[in-house]
Amino acid sequence: MQTVTCIEDLRQLSRRRIPKMFFDYAEAGSYAEQTLRANRTDMERIKLRQRVLVDVSQRDLGTTIIGEPVPLPLGLGPVALTGMQHRDGEIAACRAAQAAGLPYCLSTMSICSIEDVAQAVDKPFWFQLYVMKDRGFVKSLIERAAAAKCSALVLTIDLQVLGERHCDRKNGLSVPPAIRLKNVVNIATKPGWVWGMLRGKRKTFGNLAGYTPGDANVASLASWISTQFDPALSWKDVEWVRSLWPGKLILKGVLDVEDARIAAKTGANAIVVSNHGGRQLDGAPSSISALPTVADAVGSEIEIMFDGGIRSGQDLMRALALGARSCLIGRSYIFGLGAGGQAGVTRAIEIIRDELDVTMALCGVNRVRDIDRQVIA
Ligand code: FNR
Ligand code: LAC
Repeated sequence: MQTVTCIEDLRQLSRRRIPKMFFDYAEAGSYAEQTLRANRTDMERIKLRQRVLVDVSQRDLGTTIIGEPVPLPLGLGPVALTGMQHRDGEIAACRAAQAAGLPYCLSTMSICSIEDVAQAVDKPFWFQLYVMKDRGFVKSLIERAAAAKCSALVLTIDLQVLGERHCDRKNGLSVPPAIRLKNVVNIATKPGWVWGMLRGKRKTFGNLAGYTPGDANVASLASWISTQFDPALSWKDVEWVRSLWPGKLILKGVLDVEDARIAAKTGANAIVVSNHGGRQLDGAPSSISALPTVADAVGSEIEIMFDGGIRSGQDLMRALALGARSCLIGRSYIFGLGAGGQAGVTRAIEIIRDELDVTMALCGVNRVRDIDRQVIA
């Protein structure tokens, strides 16, 4: 891989290497992308305090996430269609995370199934659950996650209906890719990706095998799936999931303080302050702007995680300072995966870790656990 110094380098490499429809899918936000942009612009607006002449020779980036020790307050968040960014992408990402000692969360909408990943890696990973209309199927997913010894269930609660990403419609996003002239022409310019995919385990949604219509005429599996999310989902369903899953439970997608108060009473182990990476409610506040209020309201009752717009170790520092105990990344590692498979994900993690390490030093902080609002200018 050419000299890659930042996440933006990985993004550019990824853009060159993978088909446009999947790059756009990863990068996009919903509608006018106001919230997507706010996740970045609000992040960049937060200034860190430069401190000098503090002995920072003994830095410690370690902490715990839902009770598990980690060398860095970071995890890889659930990303649908990860296996379309790179052959067996979920396995590659999980291996990179585990080699770094960090949690990896597999999406319900993954290409490799729960069982595929469990067979390919040594340690437990997290499973992200979407509650679909067919509750029997949801129950079976929870049972499969338990059988695979997943160490946490991440219940995503901000996607009862799917926010539209315009580019997906324009590109005719489908899984596997549809034989449309413009897609074929574009894919033909990505031989490395095609060659990898031909050798990959699967070409469609692994967890949903046997559940999706087997009919070859389903023009777009992705759009069929969007009809399966359940708009009737409520806090009662969180109780139902809690009753089926005795292990660690994380509620992902809380942005509002009222919702955070309810979430804190569900018996979940953590919440993720998130707007789904600007992919759902366009016009919602940035994730980083919502974080301090939520952390102040419920941080003493439930562990606070955060995602949305983290592209550097400086961003990780900002989120930790504003009340997150740990953070997830989505696109930052997905760009690494598209750029260079497992090695690219490893590179993304290293970049963020090294940046956090230096940023702590320049802010005069030795321990991740000591990062608080004092580091904000
Ligand atoms: C996501 N996200 C997501 N979340 C989830 O709970 N289940 C999923 O299947 C997906 N799928 C998905 C696909 C893609 C391409 C992206 C970019 C994101 C949301 C994800 O877990 C996370 O909340 C955001 O990615 C965080 O924002 P950043 O780090 O991408 O800015
Ligand atoms: C997404 C989903 C499926 O595309 O979570 O964001």
